[in-house]
Amino acid sequence: MIEIKSLSKSFKKVQAVNGLNFKVEKGEVLGLLGENGAGKTTTLRMLATMLKPTEGTASINGHDLIKESSQVRKEVGILFGGEVGLYDRLTAYENIMYFAELNGMNKTEAAKSIDYLTEMLDMKEYINRRVGKFSRGMKQKVAIARSIVHSPSVMLFDEPTIGLDVTSSKIVQDFILKCKQDNKAIIFSSHSMNEVEKLCDRIVIINKGKIVEEGTKDSLKHKYDNPDLEQIFMRLVGGHNE
Ligand SMILES: Nc1ncnc2c1ncn2[C@@H]1O[C@H](COP(=O)(O)OP(=O)(O)OP(=O)(O)O)[C@@H](O)[C@H]1O
Ligand SMILES: [Mg+2]
Repeated sequence: MIEIKSLSKSFKKVQAVNGLNFKVEKGEVLGLLGENGAGKTTTLRMLATMLKPTEGTASINGHDLIKESSQVRKEVGILFGGEVGLYDRLTAYENIMYFAELNGMNKTEAAKSIDYLTEMLDMKEYINRRVGKFSRGMKQKVAIARSIVHSPSVMLFDEPTIGLDVTSSKIVQDFILKCKQDNKAIIFSSHSMNEVEKLCDRIVIINKGKIVEEGTKDSLKHKYDNPDLEQIFMRLVGGHNE
């Protein structure tokens, strides 16, 4: 379970995240929406312990983000879109193993998990090849395996399908639904309302680091008397950011 409490981050000139409060339960996919620069990535990077909040905190399964950051790291899996940051000279297997060991897994445990994921993601053909020449989709599968090898109970997705073709996007979307089935607490950020409609249970819309609206998909559609999430989103934040 994720509980975000007055979470804030300011950079020198920008208040990127400004007093966010929300919860995500197990088995729930929360869509974090907002225009470019709204503070989504900054929020997710803080939850992944990659960035330190300037104020507030969050708890992951009762562990405090700041005071127990190493425990939090073990319980969180991240899949961010764009360049996925694998080591080109290592094989897919070695990349995942390296990350598993960084997360405190022993080799036997990690090997078992990697074998399972290789099967699940259909990576047998290339699991022992160096990733340098892999296609985007192949790399994304390795990144998926890496994000979950340590069996985290919380998953953070930041535009995970950006730049992927239809088939690779579908693999990522199915993976998110599998995480939901496995009862993980999930935050998913995307600019695709199609994906949001397909994957999310509840939505938090932020603008300039603050929540402007939140609710289940149905409650928002009902409140704004509009079946189209995109139109609701545009009405709430469209054109507000420079
Ligand atoms: N390392 C940093 N140093 C200074 N400013 C930053 C830094 N990271 C983010 N920001 C600023 O914080 C604000 C929020 O950025 P963030 O990347 O969180 O937005 P986002 O909602 O993820 O946008 P997008 O949809 O474009 O990915 C922006 O104004 C951005 O310029
Ligand atoms: Mg972003």
